[in-house]
Amino acid sequence: MKLTTAEILNYLSYKPIGTGTEAVTYDADKYVLRMPKYIKTTHQFKKNLSNGLYKYQKLPSVHKHKNFGQAIYNLIDTQTHKIVLSICKKAHGFPTNDLVDMPLTEKQIQKAQQTAISKMQIIASAPQKSFKHLVNDLNYLTSTDFTIDPSEGNLLIDPKSKKFYIIDLRPVKKIRNIGDLILLLLTDIPNMPGNNEYYDLELKIITKLIKAAKSCGLVHPKQLAIKPRALEVLKSKPAKIMYKNNYHNIKLNKN
Ligand SMILES: Nc1ncnc2c1ncn2[C@@H]1O[C@H](COP(=O)(O)OP(=O)(O)OP(=O)(O)O)[C@@H](O)[C@H]1O
Ligand SMILES: [Mg+2]
Repeated sequence: MKLTTAEILNYLSYKPIGTGTEAVTYDADKYVLRMPKYIKTTHQFKKNLSNGLYKYQKLPSVHKHKNFGQAIYNLIDTQTHKIVLSICKKAHGFPTNDLVDMPLTEKQIQKAQQTAISKMQIIASAPQKSFKHLVNDLNYLTSTDFTIDPSEGNLLIDPKSKKFYIIDLRPVKKIRNIGDLILLLLTDIPNMPGNNEYYDLELKIITKLIKAAKSCGLVHPKQLAIKPRALEVLKSKPAKIMYKNNYHNIKLNKN
């Protein structure tokens, strides 16, 4: 369903729900509107939109009913041929992790830990089925020309249904592995001091993820690689060991 100009302008008048490096995202009820950062909601933009200067472009439904927050329509500037806005499937929930920049004061580390812990409590309480869906999404993507962007904010968890949604796919072919899912699930807090509550949650999450990978299996030999970066993100020894000792034992299914 196409949105009217008035509806788009209304949605863009509210505070964005997310700001990344490339785009600003606005809620649009059943959808989200993703606006590249090179576009601004200026008076000229509104005028162009109202005057029909931007044309709808329907995108092929590559992922069918699956929800990776993919664009369904683009609005294209008929003069520059640039995308001015994407209308995307809405994924429910909040980002499972955050970007924590260095250098950090002790107070900032504490705050980052608290934020991460409150998210990890919800992630760790997700049923095994949710982790299996996540691994199956990873498997599904090996057969497409899209890949995960394993940077912060690209995995959402719906606190009600406890389902995960990978968003912000890159339009390139690249095989990702369980380590990339670890990077999507957990926050990397540099120089983090000991924190038992954090460590317990981390181990619970990794245990559920590995169990899901073992029960689903993986579909591409490249998925059986270890991701050294994931070992940096994991803070506790038991979680590191759980990952190190198991990633190569996961069975390989024929696709
Ligand atoms: N389809 C979607 N459904 C729900 N929320 C979304 C959706 N797309 C984006 N968001 C929200 O906006 C935030 C930023 O979105 P996104 O990752 O797409 O932007 P980005 O500019 O590509 O970010 P980066 O390049 O830094 O990864 C997300 O973390 C999420 O909170
Ligand atoms: Mg992103």
